Amino acid sequence: MYKTISFLSIAIFYILSTPSTIVCGQNKIIDKKVMLHLVNKHKLAFTQGKVADYIPELGKANPKAVAFSITNENGETWSVGDNKQKFTIQSISKLIALMLAVEENGEEKVFTQMGYYGTHHPFNYFANLDHNGRPLNPMMNAGAIYTTSLIAGDADEPYQKILARIRYITNNPKIDINPTIYESEKATGYRNRGMFYLMKNYGMIEKEEEVLNNYFRQCSIEIDVEDLSKIAYFIANQGTRYDGDKTHYNKELMQLIQAQMLTAGMYEFSGEYARTIALPSKSGVGGGIIATVPNKIGIAVYNPSLDEHGNSLVGYLILKDFVQEYSLGIF
Ligand code: DON
Repeated sequence: MYKTISFLSIAIFYILSTPSTIVCGQNKIIDKKVMLHLVNKHKLAFTQGKVADYIPELGKANPKAVAFSITNENGETWSVGDNKQKFTIQSISKLIALMLAVEENGEEKVFTQMGYYGTHHPFNYFANLDHNGRPLNPMMNAGAIYTTSLIAGDADEPYQKILARIRYITNNPKIDINPTIYESEKATGYRNRGMFYLMKNYGMIEKEEEVLNNYFRQCSIEIDVEDLSKIAYFIANQGTRYDGDKTHYNKELMQLIQAQMLTAGMYEFSGEYARTIALPSKSGVGGGIIATVPNKIGIAVYNPSLDEHGNSLVGYLILKDFVQEYSLGIF
């Protein structure tokens, strides 16, 4: 009897002290060692890509920095690699802008003047507007500039709302803009300015150029890979924060966002990406990629060396192996 009790207490102690794990896909347990192995396996592939330098300040990123983070079904975040490395969120901010624009205006209004299309064009394609002047989707620059213009408020208020939402989702009040990158974006953003004025020409945007600065500001928000995996978790779990807070729970909206991520989140690479990774995802030229496993986990990877589509090359390779290892793809 005494022996049985002590065996039971050892077993209970073992269960409680074992690092928490999650079971996904085909009942395999996600292991931090596998995450680290994938970082080490792919980290040298940065030599095959290129750090973005069309915004000069972005070109200063360390091409060797690699980080990988997941926020699991219990809302716990596990990270490996250079997980404290800060970088700018760039196009991943388009998800938050879409979130706020739809919350404030409704999906119908937002998509009256914008399409749900995929595209074979890159993110900054100047003519990515259909014959009525409508942007193809909210993931490419033109659509994102339009989306941000729909968020109510004067001067930088729309940007402040985006920042506040990112701080809420990550529960990280320290997140802020990188002012040097913002100035660099603004000084070199001629293509974006061109798209802005094209949409103004079609009567889609009433506000003046100051509203475009909010797009540059949102792209210049500095985060790390852990913040990103919490954002991915939030979207995957229909607006439930990693700690269970449901202030912004909105299933319809998160379904819309994930549908757009799957269709256009990786730009002209989205189709092939849906075949190889099969998870709603969004990249940014800062080197981050987020991926959602719907109703389960949030995933984020970081390395600033990009492929020809503007997506993190090392990040893609890590994601591809990880998704295959745990059968995480939605198909
Ligand atoms: O508008 C731009 O060019 C950048 N601020 C954001 C582009 C971006 O991140 C594209 N994603 N891969």
